[in-house]
Amino acid sequence: MRKLTYYVGTTLDGFIAGPDGQFDFFPFEGDFAAALRAEYPETVPAHGRGPLDLDGVPNKRFDTVLMGRATYEPGLAVGVTSPYPHLKQYVFSRTLARPDPAVEVVATDPVAFVRGLKKQDGEGIWLCGGANLAGQLLEEIDELIIKRHPVVIGSGTPLFDAPFRPDSFRLTDSRVFNTGATITTYTKETDIPVLIRPTGEADLDRVTAVTVDEPVGWIPADRYLEELKEGMYRPEWTWIAEQDGRVVARALWWGRATSEHPVALDCLYVDPSVADRSALGARLISAGLRAFAEQGAPKLPLYNLTLPNGWREDPATVAAADWRRDAALAAGLTDVVERLRLEWTPDAGLPASSGRLTFTEGTDEEFLDVFRRIAVGSLDGETRRNLALMGPEATAQEEVDFYLGCPGERSWWRLARTPDGEVAGLALPSATPYSRNVGYLGVVPELRGQGYVDDVLAEITRVQVEAGAELITATTDTDNAPMAAAFARAGYRTAQTRLIWSAPEQGPAS
Ligand SMILES: NC(=O)c1ccc[n+]([C@@H]2O[C@H](COP(=O)([O-])OP(=O)(O)OC[C@H]3O[C@@H](n4cnc5c(N)ncnc54)[C@H](OP(=O)(O)O)[C@@H]3O)[C@@H](O)[C@H]2O)c1
Repeated sequence: MRKLTYYVGTTLDGFIAGPDGQFDFFPFEGDFAAALRAEYPETVPAHGRGPLDLDGVPNKRFDTVLMGRATYEPGLAVGVTSPYPHLKQYVFSRTLARPDPAVEVVATDPVAFVRGLKKQDGEGIWLCGGANLAGQLLEEIDELIIKRHPVVIGSGTPLFDAPFRPDSFRLTDSRVFNTGATITTYTKETDIPVLIRPTGEADLDRVTAVTVDEPVGWIPADRYLEELKEGMYRPEWTWIAEQDGRVVARALWWGRATSEHPVALDCLYVDPSVADRSALGARLISAGLRAFAEQGAPKLPLYNLTLPNGWREDPATVAAADWRRDAALAAGLTDVVERLRLEWTPDAGLPASSGRLTFTEGTDEEFLDVFRRIAVGSLDGETRRNLALMGPEATAQEEVDFYLGCPGERSWWRLARTPDGEVAGLALPSATPYSRNVGYLGVVPELRGQGYVDDVLAEITRVQVEAGAELITATTDTDNAPMAAAFARAGYRTAQTRLIWSAPEQGPAS
């Protein structure tokens, strides 16, 4: 697509003309003039080309020029009706009658007009000026080339005449001339191509140099490096977006040391200088997910964002969560669950148990059967989704497989039994790579509402404490109020909230 370039001369104090339209304080000499002649010959008006030996010299970058009426008028006043006959010339005016067949007068919206021009085939479009027209076209400007002269004039026509609204450009070239003039080129952030790719060993320093100063959970260099050694982070699961050689976004997917495919994205960062952080975040996530799917991942990794407790009251945390949410949704991770991360520490004391239940070992078949019974009527979001999609058998099997894959041991699993030997539920103390946890607990539907959940949770806590745990972690959905209340009764405090976005699973073919 064609670019709109505002190529313009300014003073040190940012004026493009004096208060009465003066511009004779802009010198055109020495190495500066030579550079313009060589690189931008088409920006020299017709009447100046002969003296500069530019007659017949082909255009280098532009084939079109846009002028506001006040920019065009000084030439007109001295009889120059077609200042740039070697370019397609447009003058914006609602008052001017067409002064020359080679000049088109445009009285319609400049933004719409420029968008139309950009869609046409052709070379670059030079926005000559002035401030008024440039101010209206600011959002369409792809590139700024500023010829700054070492002069201060105090007042005059500014570079732009537009309402206050910061707009970021990135420096892409800068030259200083012996005359004291400079030419600096800036590109609109979004116009610099972004390269999105998985990392390799050679990128390690750049990957670990990223720091996140937003109040959300993120992965600092030491943790990344430690878990990289163990295979929980991997170069091919670590994706970056590069712009002009700079890392502007990073996504870290995590898996177990034994996983063939990543399990979760647990750190997404896009540099604040990027104009649309969620859009770039979405591109990065999408690229990673596409690659994992092509590599045969049976389930797309979810995105886990950890937030401090009470995060909705802090505007900075809300803002940090918002752009990440938009990125996740745009990348197709449209199912969202909010989970509480709970922690038990010894100062809470051992939770009380009514002593009504006994806990016994069980066979794989027995556990599978109780998982299946508990899934029915569960308030856990993941369980409910799986149930709807795959039915109770497959849901139970998936949960058993998940807990078998956790660092906790199968020998810790217990069946809860009533005094007459009936199975009342499950108690699965387990572990994450970082701590002992409450893996899974549940009560069969026919015995719910009798407070057995407190006994099961007390048993899991007791087992972990006897094994020496100083910290026991747990998670539950914010929607699962009865379970959250049971944890609170057992002395588990909410430490963090986690937002989890995942791809909706395809239901069984009907
Ligand atoms: N240093 C440099 O490189 C450089 C480059 C360019 C210009 N300049 C200087 O900048 C000064 C001119 O800048 P400026 O900001 O005063 O004016 P300008 O942007 O050049 O022209 C403003 C005029 O453009 C027309 N216009 C603006 N918006 C329009 C719209 N939406 N639809 C149709 N017509 C529209 C209007 O003309 P009508 O009133 O006729 O409707 C308006 O009065 C001059 O002194 C010039 O020499 C310096």
